[in-house]
Amino acid sequence: QTSVITASDILAQKGKAPIVSLTAYTTPMAQMMDQHCDFVLVGDSVGMVLHGLSSTLGVTMEMMILHGAAVARGLSRAMLVIDMPFGSYEESPDQAFRNAARLMRETNAAAVKLEGGVEMAATIRFLVARGIPVMAHVGLTPQSINTLGGYKVQGRDAAGAAVLAGAQAVAEAGAFAVVLEKVPQSLADEITAAVAIPTIGIGASAGCDGQVLVVDDMLGLFTAFKPKFVKRYGTLGVDAEAAIAAYAAEVRARAFPAAEHVFADQTTPAKG
Ligand code: KIV
Ligand code: NA
Repeated sequence: QTSVITASDILAQKGKAPIVSLTAYTTPMAQMMDQHCDFVLVGDSVGMVLHGLSSTLGVTMEMMILHGAAVARGLSRAMLVIDMPFGSYEESPDQAFRNAARLMRETNAAAVKLEGGVEMAATIRFLVARGIPVMAHVGLTPQSINTLGGYKVQGRDAAGAAVLAGAQAVAEAGAFAVVLEKVPQSLADEITAAVAIPTIGIGASAGCDGQVLVVDDMLGLFTAFKPKFVKRYGTLGVDAEAAIAAYAAEVRARAFPAAEHVFADQTTPAKG
């Protein structure tokens, strides 16, 4: 199925209405988001959120395809964007095209997202010219955690110029939107004013053209740690553990299953 909202719609939303997005990794979550989000991102955060990895570096094409296809089955309106995992696009534009095409073919995603600024501009231009809408991602780029030296705020003071230059480079290369992750509010506002494409903030600014959060973070389902930029709109993790504890106690007390959960010998009245 093809979703109603396209990359051109997202691009055209800049300066009009804020763009709403969340990550999703499963069909039921995608179904819940379809009417509320403009685009749904199958983020490589799936590795940390659902697979227990300590960074996104171990995420594979196969993991992205499995979760991407599941999310696609839950969407009919919202646009599906899928992350290119670490090592699947950095080598060359050819490598990036091969893997982006595979992600789109095997998941039905309408666009890919990749991390990087100036250094990825040529690759973005190559993909867009060949039919692949690209969302860029600058500021804190988690796939570069080993060279960044930690999940810290990017682009403070003099370092801001490089993040701005990266956002301008990906916009000029034809990206239809750019994620700004964990940058100072003033820099996010400056970039939003400077580029012609929508900025999607996460730990950035309410002035960005849109926002994204990891769904398990905002639902309170992922609680291993909570970045400052996460707002918890629910406490599903606490609720789930309480439910599990209640079930365990009832099984041990032989209180579950109760009469209404078990089957009688006969489902129809005996004849004669
Ligand atoms: O992987 C992810 O979830 C992301 C968003 C947080 C932007 O890249
Ligand atoms: Na990501």
